[in-house]
Amino acid sequence: MPNNPVFILALESSCDDTAAAVLENGKVLSNVVANQLVHVQYGGVVPELASRAHQQNIVPVVEAALNDAYVEKGSLSAIAFTQGPGLMGSLLVGSSFAKSMSMALGIPLIGINHMQAHILAHFIDNDSPTPQFPFLGLTISGGHTQIVVVRDYFDMKIIGETTDDAVGEAFDKTAKILGLPYPGGPLIDKHAQSGNPKAYVFTKPKVPGLDFSFSGLKTAILYFIQKKTLENPNFIDENINDICASVQHTIIEILIEKLEMATKQTGINQIAIGGGVSANSGIRNALKEAEVNRGWKTFIPEFQYTTDNAAMIGIAAYYKYLAGDFENINVVSKARIPF
Ligand code: KG4
Ligand code: ZN
Repeated sequence: MPNNPVFILALESSCDDTAAAVLENGKVLSNVVANQLVHVQYGGVVPELASRAHQQNIVPVVEAALNDAYVEKGSLSAIAFTQGPGLMGSLLVGSSFAKSMSMALGIPLIGINHMQAHILAHFIDNDSPTPQFPFLGLTISGGHTQIVVVRDYFDMKIIGETTDDAVGEAFDKTAKILGLPYPGGPLIDKHAQSGNPKAYVFTKPKVPGLDFSFSGLKTAILYFIQKKTLENPNFIDENINDICASVQHTIIEILIEKLEMATKQTGINQIAIGGGVSANSGIRNALKEAEVNRGWKTFIPEFQYTTDNAAMIGIAAYYKYLAGDFENINVVSKARIPF
């Protein structure tokens, strides 16, 4: 650990949340997120509207993060931002802001991969237990579904990922079919808690190896609902809890089966999850059960660090700061970015 406190201001603007956090030596002093409600009426994120909202939100969100942390701009050691992956217009708001601030204050600039940050959120200095290297990361969000072998902070390898929709999209698109508002994942979770997970059976996709596919499941659910509502126009209203529980159960089985394969293939049985979908109560329960039934050791971050947030960007940046891994002002944002 360095002698002087390292204060990092971190920004996250890859999709539809504008977030800023201040960390002191890996401890979160503030973690502010402004959600963009403008997308609800469209049933999904509208990229152009997201970048406009980031522009409106970024100054007040950064001010709130500094105020909550009681840290002056002049005390900052570095500024970090999400370099990618994400929506280009959204990423550019965060990177331009970070570059300007780094130049104005004369402090280092640190670029972070959003997906690595979801995994590194487990290293935030708090009461949650921390996985030991090597471990498997399962990142499940609205944009990604990946199984990653994590050998060190920045030594990560993707060993499985979705070939089409992300698992969060499977939740959100199912919710849309059921007439639930965006983002539907949390609502499916809520209904599922009062439903029978075995009420309906959906065929699981057959994808070789550790990769995933969720678009076929979405289509199967659509046809199922169309058929059932033809027979009974009130089918959704009368069975919403059972439908949600059955869909959620199918998704969880797909994830657990692939994790099982990954643990066998790698010999690693520590699993750390991240991304918005890891807030799902069914997934959390299934992982806790796997600790008992399969001998896995599972790690679930605090709720505020699972969905998109800037504290995870800050902890990733802290390790880059310690390694002296800085960007120059010409660094470019990337919609797609390798590990
Ligand atoms: O990581 P995140 O906040 O943003 C992305 O990078 O995508 O993840 C958002 C996704 C959305 O698809 C949302 O529906 C899903 O996470 N989500 C959930 C739950 N909470 C959020 N899905 C299922 N159950 C939940 N409780
Ligand atoms: Zn994310």
